Amino acid sequence: MKSGKALLALILCSSAFALAPIPTAQQAKDASNYVPNAFILELSNGDAVSKRTLVSRHEEIYAAMRTRGIAFDIGEEYNTPNIFIGAAIRLSSSNDVTKLSEIPGVKAIRPIVKVYAPEHYLSLRPVSSTVVKDPKASDIPDTYSTHVMTGVDKVHAQGNFGQGIKIGIIDTGIDYNHPLLCDHADDEGSSCFGPGNKVIGGYDFVGDAFNGEDTPSPDHNPLDECNGPRDVCIIAASPDNTMGISGVAYNASLASYRIFGCIGYTSDDIISAALIMAYNQGMNILTLSLGGANGWTTGTASVVASRIAAQGRVVTTGLDGAWYASDPGAGIGVIPVASVDNIVSPIQNMTVEGVNHDPIPYFMATPLHGVNGSMPIYATSTNFSQPDDAGTCMFTQKLANVAAKGAKVAVIYNSDTGAFAAISVGGYTAVLISAADGKFLVEQFAAGVNITLNFPQGGAAFAVANPDGGLISSFSTIGPTFDMYPGVALAAPGGNILSTLPIKLGSYALESGTSMSCPFAAGAAALVLKAIGTTPAAGEAVMRILQTTAAGVAGSHTDGAPLKSVAQQGAGLIQVDRAIAMQTIVSPGQIALNDTEHFKANHTISITNTGNKTVAYKIRHVPAGTVGTIDASTHDVDTTPALIPGAATVTFSASTITLHAQQTHHITATFSPPDGLNTTLPVYSGFIEVTAANETLKVTYLGVAATLRETPVLDTSSEFFGIPLPALITAQGRPQGGPTNYTFQGEDFPFFLFRMVFGTALLRIDLVDKDEQLTPSIPLPSRRGIAPTPFTWWWTESTAGTFSKIKTIGPIGEMDYVARSTNDPFGGYSSFGFQGTFANATRINDGQYRALLRALKVNGNRNNEEDFESWMSPQFGVVTPA
Ligand SMILES: *[C@@H]1O[C@H](CO)[C@@H](O)[C@H](O)[C@H]1NC(C)=O
Ligand SMILES: *[C@@H]1O[C@H](CO)[C@@H](O)[C@H](O)[C@H]1NC(C)=O
Ligand SMILES: *[C@@H]1O[C@H](CO)[C@@H](O)[C@H](O)[C@H]1NC(C)=O
Ligand SMILES: *[C@@H]1O[C@H](CO)[C@@H](O)[C@H](O)[C@H]1NC(C)=O
Ligand SMILES: *[C@@H]1O[C@H](CO)[C@@H](O)[C@H](O)[C@H]1NC(C)=O
Ligand SMILES: *[C@@H]1O[C@H](CO)[C@@H](O)[C@H](O)[C@H]1NC(C)=O
Ligand SMILES: *[C@@H]1O[C@H](CO)[C@@H](O)[C@H](O)[C@H]1NC(C)=O
Ligand SMILES: *[C@@H]1O[C@H](CO)[C@@H](O)[C@H](O)[C@H]1NC(C)=O
Ligand SMILES: *[C@@H]1O[C@H](CO)[C@@H](O)[C@H](O)[C@H]1NC(C)=O
Ligand SMILES: *[C@@H]1O[C@H](CO)[C@@H](O)[C@H](O)[C@H]1NC(C)=O
Repeated sequence: MKSGKALLALILCSSAFALAPIPTAQQAKDASNYVPNAFILELSNGDAVSKRTLVSRHEEIYAAMRTRGIAFDIGEEYNTPNIFIGAAIRLSSSNDVTKLSEIPGVKAIRPIVKVYAPEHYLSLRPVSSTVVKDPKASDIPDTYSTHVMTGVDKVHAQGNFGQGIKIGIIDTGIDYNHPLLCDHADDEGSSCFGPGNKVIGGYDFVGDAFNGEDTPSPDHNPLDECNGPRDVCIIAASPDNTMGISGVAYNASLASYRIFGCIGYTSDDIISAALIMAYNQGMNILTLSLGGANGWTTGTASVVASRIAAQGRVVTTGLDGAWYASDPGAGIGVIPVASVDNIVSPIQNMTVEGVNHDPIPYFMATPLHGVNGSMPIYATSTNFSQPDDAGTCMFTQKLANVAAKGAKVAVIYNSDTGAFAAISVGGYTAVLISAADGKFLVEQFAAGVNITLNFPQGGAAFAVANPDGGLISSFSTIGPTFDMYPGVALAAPGGNILSTLPIKLGSYALESGTSMSCPFAAGAAALVLKAIGTTPAAGEAVMRILQTTAAGVAGSHTDGAPLKSVAQQGAGLIQVDRAIAMQTIVSPGQIALNDTEHFKANHTISITNTGNKTVAYKIRHVPAGTVGTIDASTHDVDTTPALIPGAATVTFSASTITLHAQQTHHITATFSPPDGLNTTLPVYSGFIEVTAANETLKVTYLGVAATLRETPVLDTSSEFFGIPLPALITAQGRPQGGPTNYTFQGEDFPFFLFRMVFGTALLRIDLVDKDEQLTPSIPLPSRRGIAPTPFTWWWTESTAGTFSKIKTIGPIGEMDYVARSTNDPFGGYSSFGFQGTFANATRINDGQYRALLRALKVNGNRNNEEDFESWMSPQFGVVTPA
């Protein structure tokens, strides 16, 4: 038998920050988060048919556009009063954008935003199906660990499996033929899709081939065999299988709204259409785990999701990071879900030959697939403190490097003694072992011992306690949004979850991500709705019920460790049994204390005893950890924020109350934020606990002890590209030095390159005379920041007539609600190509000019010059080619 080499590689990446290459004009364009020349027009609410012309509102707008000479294609159309009336259009010429705003009846024009599929931190090579149906095991108790963590097992024991509740899943499609989703999958001629099945319906908005760029080919069948059910089984897997998987609400009915093709991305026009269809088809719960990036609550999908939530439907979403909540996770009333690690990890053993040693456990649910025979090992480095031992920092790159040297399997050992965490190995065959076992193997290799490893191909996984179990997952990022909504509402199991893949990909996988916790929360909501009914009022109450009954998550398992910030856990880990059994209603579920400028000290909390007995309640304040959200040295948004001392103080108008049956009482909570915190943007948070003899409920609060209006938004350092930002970049990709003339023919035009270290609601570039005197805003401290953003315009009714103090010749461009930049060296910037025209596409007269770039600070007033940061470009000439 031919045997390959098993190699060892360390997984740590060096955190040293490398300078990003200055993009070329084309790269700057490609990095845009926006679909070029594509917009969603929102029409003012009104009759579907115009009374005046008797044609549909849509036709009327299209006719007005044609009259103005605008050439366009029509994409999705939206026509659901109370939710959204409008259309997605693609213009033939970017010059026509400004003309759109002149059309009567157009209420807003938003660019179409690209949305990427969430990263499924795939820690396992998918294995072939190991499903064995056991006809005897009909009524086994539910011991699935994530269900035990959340009380789902207890609710199941009461016979509540979410039957009768409809859940719309907006994501990749579903492989509904999976045996865990269809018990008659093997029956000849029977379908697993449609009424009477678990998957009752849905729609494919895109088709397999769609990659985000090409034209979608929709149909009525959301079958997806390339990405799969994954998260769906967390909600809906039938029990009694050898993997021990069962869904949170496995008797709920599902509909799948497919918005991703097999590769690439999707966009928010399609997501909005899917949300609206799921709403119109009567879904009680809508769940979507997406990777968009905004941080504002104003993107189209956020707006649509919020309006659906306001109609009493439950919407659960994943999320994307501090001051960077994903869109539509940012929607108001939508439930963004953080991830908690599973309390167990599945383990397989590999055997060691050539030296006397116990089997070595590796982190995987099923034996490493198709790896037969004894394999000699080769260590890529014998130095334990060498994180980059197999090449560059990107993990899959290391695996590619070792594979290129002939390795069949990469054995990766943990960099520390912590828990096994899911890692992404792409398509490579790799397993993760503990630090101690890795050290042992490397030492044997270094000593020249002839050691081989074997991966027995049979045997079920055995579960070991996960030392980080029950804690917030390391990948789960944090709120709040720029408008100070908490960004995270709740937490659910999402780390190390055994779930399903399409049959073609191997049926099962161990995965981590908020794309796991989000469907879990949707399933939990289904159980609650099953218990309390499906009225709009019930739908609206679900978030509060789950929040007031959730269990606070500590920062670590150390005794006395402070609770994790609300920005990271929301109200805490969902406890469905408590949510359903509670006889007390506490409202609201959460209190947004906003920033210091918009802080309000007094908030009313109502407590209702719905039971039949008199109950005495105690009210107390339980602070959660305060975190600094900006890294002090780099001024980046900190994705793993450190705890800092300090907490709010809260006093109550009454700290004990007694309520008779059916009685309600209101108390006032008076908050004062912590002061003297020595950090930038400290987010403080905690809970108001309401405790009776046998139940505890809580109200979750969060605020920031700073004025967001004073937070810098533009990166003015040189640390990202090695040149001071913002900058005017020539088409050759060089910063413009002295005065330079441009003809705007072919490639002869410059672009503005800048980075946002915080979001801005308005970014505008104006043309000014070359001699215009302006003292730009105080240079910011040196820092590097973090998101790819636009190349296009937004228009809303509110942006006319700003900046009265400075004499400008005319606007060159404007962008609304720009997200903060990421620190991705290839996409962590914004750019704007200057075509020698004003924003209205009129050519600028020949002459010498400068450009003034201004960014509105969060909560700033658009009419107040002081609320903007500004930058003046070097001098440039607009010249007519000779
Ligand atoms: C609930 O699901 C189980 C397992 O799939 C199935 O046997 C049972 O018939 C379902 N019950 C209802 C009411 O749908
Ligand atoms: C795996 O190996 C460990 C020793 O390293 C042993 O304790 C355990 O029982 C083994 N498990 C199985 C399922 O073989
Ligand atoms: C190493 O061990 C394997 C199996 O244990 C054996 O087949 C191989 O010949 C040995 N190689 C050397 C160089 O001793
Ligand atoms: C915080 O205050 C700002 C400014 O008034 C407002 O726009 C925002 O909606 C407020 N946030 C919350 C959660 O109320
Ligand atoms: C807040 O509530 C406290 C206690 O009820 C009261 O004394 C105080 O006047 C209130 N403050 C405001 C601004 O309403
Ligand atoms: C309260 O009393 C009513 C009437 O006696 C009864 O129907 C109901 O089930 C009771 N509720 C609880 C929670 O005990
Ligand atoms: C604030 O923090 C910085 C860095 O952490 C430290 O150098 C400085 O001494 C602190 N200042 C105070 C007043 O604590
Ligand atoms: C408290 O628990 C006891 C025993 O489980 C139960 O009889 C009682 O009704 C509960 N009280 C409330 C207020 O839920
Ligand atoms: C730019 O063009 C103007 C007008 O044609 C000319 O006077 C000037 O010298 C040119 N500057 C450069 C740097 O080429
Ligand atoms: C376009 O904008 C510029 C600058 O604001 C203005 O001078 C010009 O008149 C506008 N052109 C048209 C056709 O509206």
